[in-house]
Amino acid sequence: MIYSRIVGTGSYLPEKVLTNFDLEKLMDTSDSWIRERTGIERRHIAADGETTVDLAEHAARRALDAAGLRPEDVDFIAFGTTTPDLVFPNCGVILQSRLGCRGGPAFSVETACSGFMYALSIADKYIRCGEAKRALVIGSETLSRITDWSDRSTAILFADGAGAVVLTPSEQAGILSTHLHADGQYKDMLYCGSGVSKGFGPEYKLAISMVGSEVFKSAVTLLGRAVDETLAANGLDRSAIDWLVPHQANLRIIQAIAKKLSLPMERVILTVKDHGNTSAASVPLALDQAVRDGRIKRGDRLLLEAFGGGFTWGSALIRY
Ligand code: UT7
Repeated sequence: MIYSRIVGTGSYLPEKVLTNFDLEKLMDTSDSWIRERTGIERRHIAADGETTVDLAEHAARRALDAAGLRPEDVDFIAFGTTTPDLVFPNCGVILQSRLGCRGGPAFSVETACSGFMYALSIADKYIRCGEAKRALVIGSETLSRITDWSDRSTAILFADGAGAVVLTPSEQAGILSTHLHADGQYKDMLYCGSGVSKGFGPEYKLAISMVGSEVFKSAVTLLGRAVDETLAANGLDRSAIDWLVPHQANLRIIQAIAKKLSLPMERVILTVKDHGNTSAASVPLALDQAVRDGRIKRGDRLLLEAFGGGFTWGSALIRY
């Protein structure tokens, strides 16, 4: 049996940091409100001209270094993002040209905050069936470009960053299972209201709109079900999980999922305080941080999950 295995992780955050106190000067909000309702204290914002692929390239090179592979070794790129550099070519192709790895498939996956989970699941399948040998899986975003800085209900949440993993085939597990879902009936709960085909006029807002309380409730319910599904698919009890690596949208959502797993918060990788919600980048950013600081070790069982606009959501169980 062939599994795909994570052999390297990497991440990158833009230099500029925007604190809650900075936001207090821009809108009617407060550090205490943001911390209590979301757990966020600061977030990183891309510089003018710094793009989603710029961030991704740093993360990808770091992941390849960690894996001991050369950029030209990559034969498959799956790139989760909702904030692409261009309409086309897709971010995966632009990244491919920067890395100098030619010929293999390179594409982007546009499933909002669960973009990395979707990309990971697709790459895992290609490795398992033998059609990819060295896959780069990316989550990268410049959400600050689609943030309405006059809307305090969303501007305090979203931020920029990138994370990456390298997958190779292995007889040792590996990614044990992935689970993807979508429910389009919730499309109006969290969306960006403009686009190439719809139009960019004033009536089509190029900014994130969200019914926050509804998204919150659905995230807790649907991620809770995803956790159950993931454990059941592997015949495991919740005590089998060593680390939860969750989407970093809101500390209270993460606490609810940890409670469902009966996991103490010390076994949950948290970056939301310092990163905010970086959408598709949030899970690989958190994973990389915990691998590099030594908390996540070879052999640990990890549960990854993410939830985003659509709604779309997904999870993965991994023997690291
Ligand atoms: O990654 C994709 C998934 N996204 C998410 O998971 C986000 C899910 N939603 C959330 O995280 C939360 O719903 C928010 C953090 C967005 C909002 O927290 P909440 O506890 O649901 O607050 P709320 O929207 O019910 O608003 C409560 C009050 C309102 O005032 P009134 O009507 O009670 O007077 C808001 O106007 O808080 C007010 N408010 C703010 N006050 C200060 C909303 N935003 C702010 C703000 N600063 N930034």
